[in-house]
Amino acid sequence: MKTRITELFGIKHPIIQGGMHYVGFAELAAAVSNAGGLGIITGLTQRTPALLAEEIRRCRAMTDKPFGVNLTFLPTVSSPDYPGYIRAIIDGGVKAVETAGNNPQKWLPAMHEAGIKVIHKCTSVRHSLKAQSIGCDAVSVDGFECGGHPGEDDVPNFILLPRAADELTIPFVASGGMADGRSLVAALALGAEGMNMGTRFIATKEAPVHENVKQAILAASELDTRLVMRPLRNTERVLRNAAVDRLLEKEKTLGANLKFEDIIEEVAGVYPKIMQEGAMEAGAWSCGMVAGLIHDIPSVRELIDRIMAEAETIIGKRLAGMLPG
Ligand SMILES: Cc1cc2nc3c(=O)[nH]c(=O)nc-3n(C[C@H](O)[C@H](O)[C@H](O)COP(=O)(O)O)c2cc1C
Repeated sequence: MKTRITELFGIKHPIIQGGMHYVGFAELAAAVSNAGGLGIITGLTQRTPALLAEEIRRCRAMTDKPFGVNLTFLPTVSSPDYPGYIRAIIDGGVKAVETAGNNPQKWLPAMHEAGIKVIHKCTSVRHSLKAQSIGCDAVSVDGFECGGHPGEDDVPNFILLPRAADELTIPFVASGGMADGRSLVAALALGAEGMNMGTRFIATKEAPVHENVKQAILAASELDTRLVMRPLRNTERVLRNAAVDRLLEKEKTLGANLKFEDIIEEVAGVYPKIMQEGAMEAGAWSCGMVAGLIHDIPSVRELIDRIMAEAETIIGKRLAGMLPG
């Protein structure tokens, strides 16, 4: 399948693996790239730029295909060493960067000069247009269904994607709720040039996370996610567990008085405990409603081949068969 996204990133299939904290290590990124998609290493999971440089080297040893790095610009006071991370990406010869969080404008000239294509993740048409106006090469349009941070507008992809298609001239991928060949064809029909998946890629053989995380996704239905940190305007869609229930209870009790410090136990530093140790009640971790569509743990290649085969059948047989012959 050829789309503006496959052309932009030099990949075989229009499928991107979104950056995921403590999931997007070299093993997963390389597996996605080797299967013809665009694998992404999560930059900030590496605690220093030197560690990111090493992770990029590890990934390059596992694949000769293009892969990218996610750089999430956090709304924190003490900012990570972003110039250092950008340098590690450029020096590592990476040609694709997924930015997320705050506006990446400041970092675009250095990345473009190094021949890097930048795809910015946005949860609204307004932010997508901004990304286009500052020179981003593509956007990843992340609907309300998505695991992680859906923003504060709550517009699901059935509205958000065609709205983006009506306004944007740069290519975009659909993100949030994507799981299979049906998702891909729907995304293309709504105007996207491919899709980005997070949660679905966690439930794969190569995802370097504890088996408990994969089983939790398999056991979950589309009803099992919750939105946390809404009162802080830092909404995150997470899988429901005891810590999330506790957190939501605090949000209810404290109301407008809620501060980050009140929920620090449930959200700070929990990812290594969950993803690596499999301590599933340790805190709140991002997960999409798409969990309801995930029922197995295939290899990344099996997953991507299955998606492409299903998409081709839907387009070539089911949809084509609906037209008068
Ligand atoms: C466990 C997990 C961790 C994530 N961490 C990040 C992150 O660090 N930076 C980021 O930009 N997006 C992050 N995301 C969002 C994904 O890149 C992607 O946009 C999202 O998962 C898409 O929705 P889906 O889960 O329905 O496929 C994370 C998602 C999950 C599930």
